[in-house]
Amino acid sequence: MSDRGNILVAGGAGYIGSNACKALARAGYLPITFDSLVHGHEWAVKWVPLKRGDILDRARLDQVITQYRPSAIMHFTAFAYVGDSLTDPGKYYRNNAGGSLNLLEAARDGDINQFVFSSNCATDGMPDRIRITVETPQHPINPYRASKLMVERMLTDFGTAHGLRSVTLSYFNAAGADPDGEIGEHHDPETHLIPIVLDAASGQRPHVTIFGDDYDTPDGTCIRDYIDVSDLADAHVKAILALDTGAGSQTFNLGNGTGFSVRAVIEAVEHVTGKKVQTKVGPRRLGDPLSLVSSADAAGRILLWSPQRAATDTIVGDAWTWSLDLTAERMMA
Ligand code: UFG
Repeated sequence: MSDRGNILVAGGAGYIGSNACKALARAGYLPITFDSLVHGHEWAVKWVPLKRGDILDRARLDQVITQYRPSAIMHFTAFAYVGDSLTDPGKYYRNNAGGSLNLLEAARDGDINQFVFSSNCATDGMPDRIRITVETPQHPINPYRASKLMVERMLTDFGTAHGLRSVTLSYFNAAGADPDGEIGEHHDPETHLIPIVLDAASGQRPHVTIFGDDYDTPDGTCIRDYIDVSDLADAHVKAILALDTGAGSQTFNLGNGTGFSVRAVIEAVEHVTGKKVQTKVGPRRLGDPLSLVSSADAAGRILLWSPQRAATDTIVGDAWTWSLDLTAERMMA
């Protein structure tokens, strides 16, 4: 048992979950990673222990909770491919919504009354001049986003019925890598813009396809708010600290509050890497909102959180260093 206690981190072997484990360990907690390793990576679990399991497996969850008696659960486990969720919605409702319900019932029965939930910005997109707050109406346009909203509703109801106190962190586009280079992004398949553009810069891909350049934005490409993964991890620790001191249930948006277009990201990569990125313009990707930019004011005010690594060059620079390490590993494999 560490000084501040044990935290069960469901999905702790994933991109954001592993960064949260590092931040928790630094803050004096012991992160217990619970992960099926379907999308997570064993190499990302450096702040042990790793307990392999699926959140749909209630008996396994109970076993780990009984062994470690965590004071809180942090929940990152989710399938997160929007296109996949449209073709196989059952998988998303079963795992993301049903699995979360399992986790919540395990928390209730294990006397754990603190919960931090990773959500995402679940709206169908706003004009780029509008910053999205937690009050902005949510219009889920795919099963992935709908499943996240269902869990938010479950948290409210478990709070009312069982006294569960939860913090929902609704984040925008997670990006970057651990500044120490210990962990970073690696999805299979990779669909996210920054790693794809970096692969094109390093010659791992011939070009980047820009999914539509006819949006109603200044350069015609979609706008997103890219938030550094270490900043996200820091917000998770602040959420746990708040719950530890008795805070009630709350929801926060996490982003930098600045939007970057697809073309602006490509330019940032060219600037950081000094390499030219070949592009092609393709059709719009199904389900892409034109602009998602946060207002994270509440997280600043209440959690005393503010992004420390907001500069695009910082985010892209760390991701570039990490992608070069990955490339070297791939070549040795
Ligand atoms: N894009 C391209 N070409 C690519 C990849 C992405 O033009 O090869 C564009 C997308 O169309 C989008 C922007 O780059 O406009 C960002 O795309 P990402 O896939 O990196 O991120 P999304 O905004 O689609 O995804 C975010 C999170 C996901 C989450 C999704 C659901 O990163 O994990 O929101 O809302 F699933």
